[in-house]
Amino acid sequence: MQQEIKAFVFDAYGTLYDVQSVEQVVEAAFPSYGSLITAIWRIKQLEYTWLTSLMGRYEDFWSLTKRALDYTLRSLHLDADVQRVEQTAAAYLSLRPYDDARDCLERLAPQRLAILSNGSPAMLSNLVKNSSFEGFFDRILSVDSRRVFKPAKDAYALVEQELGVSPKEVVFVSSNGFDICGAKNFGFTVVRVARSTDRFRDDLPLKVDERALFDLLRGQEAETLDQVADVTVRSLAEIPGLFGDRGRNV
Ligand code: LAC
Repeated sequence: MQQEIKAFVFDAYGTLYDVQSVEQVVEAAFPSYGSLITAIWRIKQLEYTWLTSLMGRYEDFWSLTKRALDYTLRSLHLDADVQRVEQTAAAYLSLRPYDDARDCLERLAPQRLAILSNGSPAMLSNLVKNSSFEGFFDRILSVDSRRVFKPAKDAYALVEQELGVSPKEVVFVSSNGFDICGAKNFGFTVVRVARSTDRFRDDLPLKVDERALFDLLRGQEAETLDQVADVTVRSLAEIPGLFGDRGRNV
C-alpha cells in the first residue's frame, strides 16, 4: 500500500554530521590519541544518554558530551581540566556535514524537512548555523523538551506533536543502530544510511584499530533486535530518488 509521506526527519549526529570530524581537534589537543579519544568519547556519550534516561536523571546532551569526554580523558590518564574539556567538547558544535547531506536536502527541499536529535537546542542551532543548513529545515526538534533521549518513544512522539503528522507519514533517516531500532519501533518508515563499510568480510588476518572497533560496535549491519529499517542506502544522495517528488513511496 502506498503511503503519503508528509515529512522527512533526519537524525543529526552520524547521519547529517560526521562525529568523526572532531578527530583533528582532539588530535591537536592530545597528540597521538585522536582516533582513540574520538571513538571512546562517542560510545560513552551515547551510553550516558541511555543510562540517564533509564535512571530518570536527565541532563542535556551538552552536559553528557562533556561528561563523556571527561570520562575518556580520565580513563587514559590525560589532563581532564574543566576548561580543557569545555574547549575540546566545543568541536561538537561545528562538526563537518557529510558530503552527501547538502545535495540530499536541496533535492528534497520542496518537502517538509526536520531534524530530530538528542542534541540540546543550543548545540543543534550551532551545528546547523555553522554548516549553513538553516534554510533547509521547517523545524529542528531537540529531545530536550521531553527530557528523555532516543530511543524512548516519547522522544519520537515530538515529531507527531510538533509537525502534526502521524508516524506512517514520516520517513525517518538515521545511521545509528539504536535510533533505527527506536524509530522503527515507534512506527516511522525508516531509511538506514550505512555509513561504515563492512571490511571484515574477507580481510584476514583481522586488523582491528579503534575506528574498526567503533564500526563493529556501531555498524548496525548485524543488529538483532528485530526492528529493521525499511530501506538501506549507502549515501543520503539516494534518498530523493527513492521517493516520488510529491513524497510518495515508489
Ligand atoms: C542524534 C544522535 C542519535 O543526533 O546521534 O540524535
